[in-house]
Amino acid sequence: MMHPVLQALNLNATESGTYLGKGEWSSVSDAGVLEPVNPTTGEVLARVHSSSQADYDTIMERATEAFKVWRKIPAPRRGEAVRLCAEALRANKDALGSLVALEMGKSKPEGDGEVQEMIDIGDFAVGLSRQLYGLTMHSERPGHRMYEQWHPLGIVGVISAFNFPVAVWAWNAFLAAACGNITIWKPSPKTPLSAIAATRICNDALRDAGFPDIFFLFNDAGTDLAQSFVDDKRVALVSFTGSTKVGRMVGERVARRMGRSLLELGGNNAIIVDPSADLKLAIPAIVFGAVGTAGQRCTTTRRLFVHDSIYDDVLAKLITAYRQVEGKIGDPTDPANLMGPLNSRDGVDAFLDTIERAKAAGGKVETGGAAREGKGNFVLPTIITGLDNKADVVQMETFAPILYVMRYTELEDAIAKQNDVPQGLSSAIFTTNLKNAEQFLAAWGSDCGIANVNIGTSGAEIGGAFGGEKETGGGRESGSDAWRTYMRRQTNTINYSDSLPLAQGIKFDL
Ligand code: UN1
Repeated sequence: MMHPVLQALNLNATESGTYLGKGEWSSVSDAGVLEPVNPTTGEVLARVHSSSQADYDTIMERATEAFKVWRKIPAPRRGEAVRLCAEALRANKDALGSLVALEMGKSKPEGDGEVQEMIDIGDFAVGLSRQLYGLTMHSERPGHRMYEQWHPLGIVGVISAFNFPVAVWAWNAFLAAACGNITIWKPSPKTPLSAIAATRICNDALRDAGFPDIFFLFNDAGTDLAQSFVDDKRVALVSFTGSTKVGRMVGERVARRMGRSLLELGGNNAIIVDPSADLKLAIPAIVFGAVGTAGQRCTTTRRLFVHDSIYDDVLAKLITAYRQVEGKIGDPTDPANLMGPLNSRDGVDAFLDTIERAKAAGGKVETGGAAREGKGNFVLPTIITGLDNKADVVQMETFAPILYVMRYTELEDAIAKQNDVPQGLSSAIFTTNLKNAEQFLAAWGSDCGIANVNIGTSGAEIGGAFGGEKETGGGRESGSDAWRTYMRRQTNTINYSDSLPLAQGIKFDL
């Protein structure tokens, strides 16, 4: 019996995981199979046939050909193609949001929110398609003009993670498309259905309007095709979202062939709560940051530094709030629930393992600390105290709702500790003290790619550049001028004089 959420998007019990372009999905059925599991029940949702080597070769050839056409289409017209995708996503927001909730396990409002991010970046890309600006420079030579232009790269490869199974693709694919590139997507093997549905929605919209194929999709049950993809010289940019461990491998391999990579890797994000903080803002922000998406965002709040003078009060309020969340854990497709299951059994094992290691290191479980009885990958949101920032478990990212709460007395010390982890993605301070806020944002403050005041660490808007420093990988995607990553810069100098003066005043008289 097909789940109604799949039926609403015309997904079948058996699906091809390969979009070959030209409206064709591969008929290959002997290259392995993916079985995405409903994390709420443990049941297999559908069977998805993986892509074969021949499928991969076809996609690469067609993408290469498609680029030759797409790069000649004026950027504002390319923006029109993205606009149609965003419109189609608006029409399918409820259905696709439910599928994301079902397959990934995040709550329905968060699933819908993820589709909203796709729509928003689509709108952003439409405007951007008329604003791919380059600078003009004054040449040092008479009768010369200098300027720069931005040209598309070619093929952009997107390897995305299970936790944002559709939005991260859209951040990349829509900017890439407006910039004149073709995108080939390899989604997480845990969430192929969301990827198939998103690909279908967008490609149908493009084909109906007569646009060429700009979005291709393949699924890999193992890692062979993914490795060829990373090593493939035809892929000008590899945009990878996932663990630091795999991201390091991707970055090294792409660098070896002098390709470009955009890495969005692990986070170990902290919030500082100072004595002046408005707790009416701080408490819900911490809870959403730590418990939202069941702790499976790269921006999830994992560490909390609370000033000694308010520590007991904040901890007590958090424990009360966590108990409220416990009453609203359940099927993520039911909008009444605040927290769904972890996406996989592996995730539950990692959660339990980390709790044991935290206890062994001297940590105290204040609330949670266990998996929930019964079906599905449900765990209890967990607060652990009594550990130092240097403890191994605190230093690493466990993709689960575990929050380490620590005390501080001097802000400088709290900022130093918040920075003292290998990752550098997101950070926040809750304060009504201007000096403390500015201290946190100064060059000697937070070392993260994202630093917020009176806003939590997760749930960034698409308008800003998204990404982080250190082991987070250094990539920036989404808003601001992140589009430049998807283009190559060409500097042009034009001589409209009758002589040939050399730069730097060099004389070379023949
Ligand atoms: C991720 O977890 O990989 O800021 C991306 C946020 C979301 C994106 C997270 N807009 O939490």
